[in-house]
Amino acid sequence: MNILLLGSGGREHAIAASLVKSPLCDELFVAPGNGGTAGIATNVKLNACDEAAVLEFVENHQIGLVVIGPEAPLVAGIADAVRNKAHVPCFGPGYEGARLEGSKQFAKQFMDAHGIPTAGWQAFTQSDEAHNYVDQKFNPACGEGVRVLVVKADGLAAGKGVIVAQSCEEAHDAVDQCFNGAFGDAGKIVVIEDALTGPECSLLAFVDGATMRPMATAQDHKRALEGDKGLNTGGMGVYSPVPIVTEDEYAAMLSAMQRACDGLVQEGISYKGVLYGGFMLTPEGPKVLEFNARFGDPETQVILPRLKTDLAEVMLAVANGRLSEIELEWRDEWAVSVVLASKGYPQHYDTGFEITGIEEAQKLPGVVVYHAGTKLDDAQILRTAGGRVINVTALGNTFEEARERAYAGCDVIQFEGKTLRRDIGERALRGRSAWEA
Ligand code: AMP
Ligand code: GLY
Repeated sequence: MNILLLGSGGREHAIAASLVKSPLCDELFVAPGNGGTAGIATNVKLNACDEAAVLEFVENHQIGLVVIGPEAPLVAGIADAVRNKAHVPCFGPGYEGARLEGSKQFAKQFMDAHGIPTAGWQAFTQSDEAHNYVDQKFNPACGEGVRVLVVKADGLAAGKGVIVAQSCEEAHDAVDQCFNGAFGDAGKIVVIEDALTGPECSLLAFVDGATMRPMATAQDHKRALEGDKGLNTGGMGVYSPVPIVTEDEYAAMLSAMQRACDGLVQEGISYKGVLYGGFMLTPEGPKVLEFNARFGDPETQVILPRLKTDLAEVMLAVANGRLSEIELEWRDEWAVSVVLASKGYPQHYDTGFEITGIEEAQKLPGVVVYHAGTKLDDAQILRTAGGRVINVTALGNTFEEARERAYAGCDVIQFEGKTLRRDIGERALRGRSAWEA
């Protein structure tokens, strides 16, 4: 069959690299793709959120499976259109399921309704009510006397709509930012949450509307600078599985994921795709920070290289509600991925710099390179085209080996302004106590 994959990040390069290995895949189209997908598939200029354009492409290219990578087309209901109008199998939830990511208020209501542990919260549409709530929370005389509060814009805000406010003043400021339109329509509803503490860990699962098959745990590094300092980013590096998770914690995460899947069924939402549970491993046990309706980026770049089962077969089974017929097989190895970013990311950065050393890096033991913000220019020279440019993933028999291999790969790839965190996985190496310091 021909497959259409929507998206352009490192996640999509990793998905594409697995799909093209499948005997089920005749031709793979990636829209819009990047410099990496250009080398293994056909990149297509197409707006992934433009329903009419996607449907026309599906019809004209005899597409047998559509795979949706990022959240925007999911929340725009592209999966519903592919399934209901083109009658083609689609990997990715429809509008209703994608609301678990698209609306934080919906997600919190869903978690409460289905007994999924999460932080205490309230949602506001009126600024004065939100400000009163903030005052109450911080004031030890009439409220709880908290020191930290988390303010979230309800809708999609490209990862920027969450503010962990370290003081009452910061929380008021965050509320103002949301209601004053800093996150556009996403901030019309504001969710205010109690702050949780502990290591973060995500667990991804394939879901086909009835069956859930968990993938591996993974841990992202969201901050721009070493020591988890600086601004939040899309993710600067990741590893999988997460060595510090106890058996009890894993069981609790699995149970939360199963409750979510059962909850979707109960609410009549046919969810076909990846459900991403973002957890905080709190002293009272794992609690859900967020659900995403898709593969994580960069989590995918450490999860898929470990999957032995044919990804096209799994995705088709998910899309057709036949996941119960498939068992997932995993390589018994560790994976670490480090992001090479443009200088200045996540704020202003320049692009267009030549990238060298990728082939050399790929020859190193265990190393796989995924492109994110890259582009081939007219002369077929690979250039930087985004904030996160390259993901250097490495597999190893031990966590340390995977980590060393990934950094060896990072050192041979060059471009002007190359920026990376040297401490990806460093805390995990030190063990659980590294989070208590
Ligand atoms: P979210 O997009 O909701 O996962 O939030 C982005 C990041 O903000 C998370 O990865 C956490 O680092 C942080 N965060 C979100 N909610 C909370 C919370 N209730 N307590 C502490 N940190 C949080
Ligand atoms: N790496 C976090 C995410 O994909 O949302």
